[in-house]
Amino acid sequence: MKDINYGQNDGFDPSEGLRTLGFTWTAQIDAVQQCAEEAERQLSYVSLCKSEHERKKLGSYYTPTDVADFFWRELFVQKEIFTNRDALSFLRKHHFVEPAAGAGALIFALMKRFVALGLTPDQLAELELSIVDINANALSFVEEQIESLAKNWNVVFDRVHLVRNNFLELRLDNGTKPYFFFGNPPFVGNKKELSPWKNLYADFLEKALQHIEGVGGVHFILPLSIAFSRDYNALRTAILKVGGTVCLSNFDNIPDTLFKSGKPSHTNTNKANSQRCTILTILPEGPRRVLATRLLRWSKKDRATLLGRSPEYFDVSGYAFDKQIPRPDSQAILDYLNLAADSPRLGTILAKSGRHELFVAGVARNYISLREGPANGVHALGFKSEEDFLLGLGILSSDLFLSYWLSLGDGFHLTKGNIFNFPLHHTLVRECEYNASALRKAWQARQRFQKGKLNSGQMTRSFDLTNAVPSLIGA
Ligand SMILES: C[S@@+](CC[C@H](N)C(=O)[O-])C[C@H]1O[C@@H](n2cnc3c(N)ncnc32)[C@H](O)[C@@H]1O
Repeated sequence: MKDINYGQNDGFDPSEGLRTLGFTWTAQIDAVQQCAEEAERQLSYVSLCKSEHERKKLGSYYTPTDVADFFWRELFVQKEIFTNRDALSFLRKHHFVEPAAGAGALIFALMKRFVALGLTPDQLAELELSIVDINANALSFVEEQIESLAKNWNVVFDRVHLVRNNFLELRLDNGTKPYFFFGNPPFVGNKKELSPWKNLYADFLEKALQHIEGVGGVHFILPLSIAFSRDYNALRTAILKVGGTVCLSNFDNIPDTLFKSGKPSHTNTNKANSQRCTILTILPEGPRRVLATRLLRWSKKDRATLLGRSPEYFDVSGYAFDKQIPRPDSQAILDYLNLAADSPRLGTILAKSGRHELFVAGVARNYISLREGPANGVHALGFKSEEDFLLGLGILSSDLFLSYWLSLGDGFHLTKGNIFNFPLHHTLVRECEYNASALRKAWQARQRFQKGKLNSGQMTRSFDLTNAVPSLIGA
């Protein structure tokens, strides 16, 4: 193991004051964090063969330092912990539990946050914390780091417990303090017979939810599927039932990803989905509201900016369009979905044997890709009349539909469900009828809006009519 080069407290002039010490303490935790990040790859394999398969089996993809720092800064904002007093009261009030600690990225980032708000090592040593992981090597690493900090700070962390165990088998007593669960639980497929949930992360979340009645909290990094997948409808109901504040920051995986090391070396779309993440915060004592960001996208060069400030949240407390927690692309689309929640859906104007056909690609990114004819992975939509076809065209190629898909889609697939469920509010239908001749012209001139993309040596041609058809946002 690599030695950590701590700044020493010895020989420090006390008159330099707490402030200077604070810098040193922070620097020491920084060093531990860096060490944890470097140790990540070694620790995340449990077997000697260190195969990618082994790594995947435990879902060992540790949180990068910048994400860990963002994770706690955001939590402190949500809980309005701005002063030394607030921080101390948060620390003293809870029994913290990290159920899947790995190399401890989120533990050391929490300590750093506390020190940044002026807590001293003596106060930090009051931390009541259970550190759980099934990987004994990882826990030994965390233990060593904590011992190093304790030695340097001349304190004893006697309320920190290391639990080398399966979190799901752990008995959690109702102690004197409310539990505050934080972590990045493993993302691993479940065997059908072992759990009602498709993925292990959901078992972790469910267990945590069972131990925060009215107090405490949950603060987890999860796959984005927690916000949209039908598989987790019941879990979302349980989350919302807790009451208080529920907050989701949602992260896309292109161009940059939250997890630098990347997830399994897959080339399929599963990989893409697994890297889309949500930081979910549940604070039962907070004001009753549900907040969510859009699906945040950023390039590598903007990473520090993205993670260095609070994202914009939309208040989605009143959202009732479907069973998701939306990632609103704008306030306009959120207002539209609320307004049109009871309107007939686009599926009602589709007809299987309709003479007028529109072909739409089953994946999307920055525009909805219309196609000339049928192909693999392309939805063929039939319409009985030209009026319906133009209505379908006007909607599917519009800025409003793209915004709708960005808010409710999985970030990659444009599913039949996404298309069929789009709500047709009567004002929108009227607007498209009014635009009929412009839409007909845009369709006739579609070759002018053609885009080509090479896919395994094959050129795929699509039409991006977003700028050719009238805007429907605010219609
Ligand atoms: C995604 S890593 C997260 C590590 C750390 N929390 C972080 O954010 O860097 C998931 C961790 O869960 C652990 N793990 C997997 N299954 C577990 C289980 N049933 N109980 C406890 N820990 C488990 C793995 O060993 C791995 O360290």
